[in-house]
Amino acid sequence: MNERPIGIFDSGVGGTSIWKEIQYLLPKENCIYLADSINAPYGEKTTDEIIELSVKNTELLLKKNCKIIVVACNTATTNAIGYLRNTYDVPFVGIEPAIKPAALKSKSKTVGILATKGTLTSALFHSTAQNHAEGIEIVEREGKGLVELIEKGELDSETTVSLLKQFIDPMLDRGIDYLVLGCTHYPYLVPVLKRILPEGVKIIDSGQAVARQTKTILEKESILNNVSLNGKHQFFTNAEQEILQRFVENVTEYVRVDYLDF
Ligand code: DGL
Repeated sequence: MNERPIGIFDSGVGGTSIWKEIQYLLPKENCIYLADSINAPYGEKTTDEIIELSVKNTELLLKKNCKIIVVACNTATTNAIGYLRNTYDVPFVGIEPAIKPAALKSKSKTVGILATKGTLTSALFHSTAQNHAEGIEIVEREGKGLVELIEKGELDSETTVSLLKQFIDPMLDRGIDYLVLGCTHYPYLVPVLKRILPEGVKIIDSGQAVARQTKTILEKESILNNVSLNGKHQFFTNAEQEILQRFVENVTEYVRVDYLDF
């Protein structure tokens, strides 16, 4: 039972930024990662479409006997996690933009958030922003086009840098001192962002919090893997294996990337 894998899914390679935090915090756990790259970006889809894709991913992970599902996608979490929790009898961990910690820490009382359209227009995001960012100005920008570039492995190309500047400059004009990365693809842009942002502006995401929450639930449910020494990690994608491989190599001893027609 405890050796059953943690299931993780995203619209593509972005959720590997969450998987990295999970395998760092929980090195004994086996993981199965599903990258639905063919359907990326989820951020431009309707709530019903996002729910449908999230259901398909969840069912696949359940067929692979996963003991917990990590929805490593802000867009899928903010649009579909309620439906998933009501439908399946397995614990779910979701990811939401880190508005609350940014709002608490911000001195300029102005916080930038870069996320997908699907996340920024969701009811869950609005209630989080309303409940946890009182007195804070939130400067939102849809990162339209960024997920596609990251899916192609363009983390530092001219197009990526100029698109990012286009999104970030208006936030800087408004005086943000925190930039919330509200999409699991965006942590891969941190090296470029650090070049663009002035020194005083800090970047914040929810990756570590998701890993901690996964651990808390596994402990609470008594399903931590205390059997194997090092976890095994298997990745499935319905797009190019090589791209996903690039995002996950050099992290663990046992990593396998397979093509799955899903
Ligand atoms: N990684 C997804 C997220 O966190 C990207 C969504 C998309 O495919 O647009 O929102």
